[in-house]
Amino acid sequence: MSDLSRRDMLKGAALAGAGLAASGAFTRGIAEDISAIAHPDQQPAAPKARKTMKGVPFERMANVRVGIVGTGLRGRSVLNELLGIDGVTIVAICDTVPDKLARATKMITDKGHAAPATYTGGDHAFEQLVARTDVDIVYTATPWEYHVPVMLAALAHGHHTASECPFGTTLKDLWALVDASEKARKHCLHLENCNYGYNEMMVNRMVHEGVFGEVLHAEAAYLHDLRGILNEGRDEGLWRRAWHTRANANLYPTHGLGPVSWYLDIHSGDRYDYMVSVSGPERGLSIYREETVKDKSDPKWNEQYITGDMNTSILKTVKGKTVMLQHDVSNARPYTRHNRVLGTKGTFEDYPPRIYVEGKSAKEQFYPIDDWKKDFEHPLWTRVGDKARSGGHGGMDYVMAFRLIECMHEGLVPDYDVYDAATWSAPFPLSQMSVAKSGQPMKFPDFTRGEWSKKRS
Ligand SMILES: NC(=O)c1ccc[n+]([C@@H]2O[C@H](COP(=O)([O-])OP(=O)(O)OC[C@H]3O[C@@H](n4cnc5c(N)ncnc54)[C@H](O)[C@@H]3O)[C@@H](O)[C@H]2O)c1
Repeated sequence: MSDLSRRDMLKGAALAGAGLAASGAFTRGIAEDISAIAHPDQQPAAPKARKTMKGVPFERMANVRVGIVGTGLRGRSVLNELLGIDGVTIVAICDTVPDKLARATKMITDKGHAAPATYTGGDHAFEQLVARTDVDIVYTATPWEYHVPVMLAALAHGHHTASECPFGTTLKDLWALVDASEKARKHCLHLENCNYGYNEMMVNRMVHEGVFGEVLHAEAAYLHDLRGILNEGRDEGLWRRAWHTRANANLYPTHGLGPVSWYLDIHSGDRYDYMVSVSGPERGLSIYREETVKDKSDPKWNEQYITGDMNTSILKTVKGKTVMLQHDVSNARPYTRHNRVLGTKGTFEDYPPRIYVEGKSAKEQFYPIDDWKKDFEHPLWTRVGDKARSGGHGGMDYVMAFRLIECMHEGLVPDYDVYDAATWSAPFPLSQMSVAKSGQPMKFPDFTRGEWSKKRS
């Protein structure tokens, strides 16, 4: 943070330059300055007297008071999950669009709760929300460009905070969040719903009970045909396509990498050491525009898409394990996050889910996971699965929200911390840097500053 003060970050002053979208229609956003390779902030000096947030429990609280910034599709979806949990009060919400606030307010009052305070009127209205003293945690579900400013502001006011994916888009920002969380002694979390998927939680248990032997390799991805959504005149279509004009990178690493980082004991005895990354050509968004935007005066024709459609990275841990990580949101294909793990005695692969375990499966044959559920279903899913299944993304959203609130009610250490959050998003800037250098290895920052080898409490 030497050349970028928190104040600058909050005001967005640092956003000028590198990340401006080609189209004048988008808001400004931050992408890595790839002229600065090797990046000076990959492993900056620790602030004086820093204290880790690893293993730090929440203070116990009977009721969790939540502030939400961004009440669009995702913000309202998580709001819906929170409204289904006892001991939660939504005290304040913020959005630049009053109609989105009205919809969220109605959801809250329809459930019999008091209407929340509302903040709107500009991109920085969230500064008024975070200045409230009656908030325990501020959750941001804004466009990516605002995740970091909202979380830094929340921490500066002494609140826990949490974000949607990605947690941040530059190494500088990721370090800023780590340092701010440690300084404030408050948690700064990435609410990664995919870590709470049924299959992910079951496989994580199987990995740690040794079913697959010694784990050697995992595969993670976000391969999702978003061409329609990226081009809509509303919701994510208003801002997400801009990122395809800003960075040739893996723009969305965390849905895949979060769960496999648990399988690989990242920050519980291992950590990512370095990664290499290559991108193929950009085609999908250009072809989609050619086929759907007939009016050549449409501002979309000013946009220059630079994100290669298929980005493939390979990560190596200090203990020698490998991860393949991919991103493609611009081509015709069914959804997958890969979600694969390979050990010396067996393997799990998702989409569709299937398992092979030596001695238990016929040679060369995958089996459906159903036979394993009886012994390895995660206790959290056994406990709340019935309620969860009525919620978003097959239930993982409810389980994630339930578990966060449970940790706060009971004064537990959260399941993941600021170091996990920063690490799961680091492939965004690191892939951008590696791609720009013909796939050169990029060192992973050690956001834990040496504490990765300690087992999780
Ligand atoms: N975890 C998941 O499964 C999942 C799913 C979808 C989206 N997301 C993430 O959620 C976030 C939001 O995505 P979305 O689909 O809801 O997009 P969206 O466009 O529907 O919602 C974003 C909202 O933020 C508001 N906003 C914009 N700038 C703001 C500001 N400065 N202050 C306050 N509000 C502001 C917009 O008006 C809008 O209502 C993104 O980070 C996205 O990546 C996560």
